[in-house]
This record gives sequence, C-alpha cells and structure tokens, in this order.
Amino acid sequence: MNRQVVTVDGLAGTGKTSISKLLAERLGFVHLSTGLLYRAVGLLALREKVDRTDEELVSFIVDDHSLQLVLDSNRSARVLVDGIDVFDDLYSPEVSESTSQVAQFGRVREKLVGAQREAFPGEDLVAEGRDMGSLIFPDAHFKFFVSTDEPVKVERRLKQLKEARGAMSEQEAKSLKEKMKIEIHERDKRDSEGGFATTFQQPDMYLVDNSTQPLEIVVENLYNVLLDHGIKPRMSGN
Ligand code: DC
Repeated sequence: MNRQVVTVDGLAGTGKTSISKLLAERLGFVHLSTGLLYRAVGLLALREKVDRTDEELVSFIVDDHSLQLVLDSNRSARVLVDGIDVFDDLYSPEVSESTSQVAQFGRVREKLVGAQREAFPGEDLVAEGRDMGSLIFPDAHFKFFVSTDEPVKVERRLKQLKEARGAMSEQEAKSLKEKMKIEIHERDKRDSEGGFATTFQQPDMYLVDNSTQPLEIVVENLYNVLLDHGIKPRMSGN
C-alpha cells in the first residue's frame, strides 16, 4: 500500500465520524466516510421506490447510477450521484433506515468495494465504516475500533435531537429517550446480524472507548498513538 491508511470501525452512534474527521484534519489526511456510498444507495432506493427486500433489484441501483466521491474544502469526502451533490439529503431518518436495509445485501456490498479501495488514489486516508480494517483495507497501517456504551449513545443522540428541535417537556423527552433506545438497539442488532460489520475489537485493532472522555482528548490520545506507531502527518507544524 503506497499511501498511509488509518481505519476506524464501529457501530452507529459511537462517535466514529467525529473522531475520524478531527483525526484526519490533525494528520492532514483525507477523511473518507464510506457510509456516504451506502447512504447514496439507500437514498436512490427510496426515491425510485425499489423493493428493499429484493437484493438483485437493489444491487442494480449501483449499476444504473454514477456514484462519485469528491473532496470538499476540508478534505472530507462527499458523494455525487449522477454528478449531483446529494449530501444534504443523506442523513434523514428515512434515508438512514433505508440505508441500513440495503447495506445488508452482499451484492450491494461487493459492488461498492472498488469505489472504497480506489477512492482518492495517492492520498493518505482516515477511512471509517463497518468493515474498513477487515475487508476493505486489511493492510491498513493502523486500525481503530470505536466502542461507546449504549446509555451514552442514547444520551448523546437525545442531546442532538433536543438541539435540533428546541425545548420539549419532560414527558416528551422521556418517551423520546425510550424510542431512541429501541432504535439504537435495533440498528446495532441489524448491523451485527448482517455479518459484515466488525462488531467487536479484532486482534489487530486498537480499542477506543468513546464513552467518557471529551472528544478533543480522545482525538489527541489517538493522534499520539498513531505517531508512536510510525504514522507520518502530512501537514507541517504537527
Ligand atoms: O456510518 P454511517 O452512519 O454513515 O452509515 C450508514 C449506513 O451504512 C449504516 O446503516 C451502516 C452502513 N455502512 C456499512 O454497512 N458499511 C460501511 N462501510 C459504512 C456504512
């Protein structure tokens, strides 16, 4: 592998995107969230009303459209679908749900392997997803596995929702919390049962417990771990 690749695997809501983004920034590497490609397929399945139980039909979506990864001004990946930036449409609950269904299919996953491995040739990468260190970049220079306790995930998600929605009653917050618990549990279960996701720390992965420390401290520690293991930052002054 003639570029440096750091992989970050972990289930939904573990905070791996925030960690990966900051780590990539710090290193001067490109940040690649491979979930973008899966989300693009999930979005198209919704838009085209494709039967999401039909593996073959869903996998044709990948053949019928151009999915292109490009870099934004922060050197973070975005995805173009047939030449159009769809980033703003990718993170709705409906698209997340559709994506989590289409990502279960082996045929879809196979068709997205090349786009992930060949993304941004020559660029050093922090690549995040579910099978980065296992399947996509088995020879990565360093592999992280991020884990967060379920109650912490629920609290963080609840905080995001409260910020987005504004004030809510105690009763509303309580019922939302119960809903979050079920949603997070179901999604983790589905990711795990699909058999593709790295759901536990593998022997060659460094475990990151993202339950207690502030993000900046976690990233600082991981950055130092990478330096200790011979990863060379790209930017001067690091
Ligand atoms: O990381 P994310 O939340 O953007 O991922 C969105 C969905 O895509 C999630 O259901 C898991 C799936 N995914 C996957 O199966 N494999 C990846 N490498 C990345 C994401």
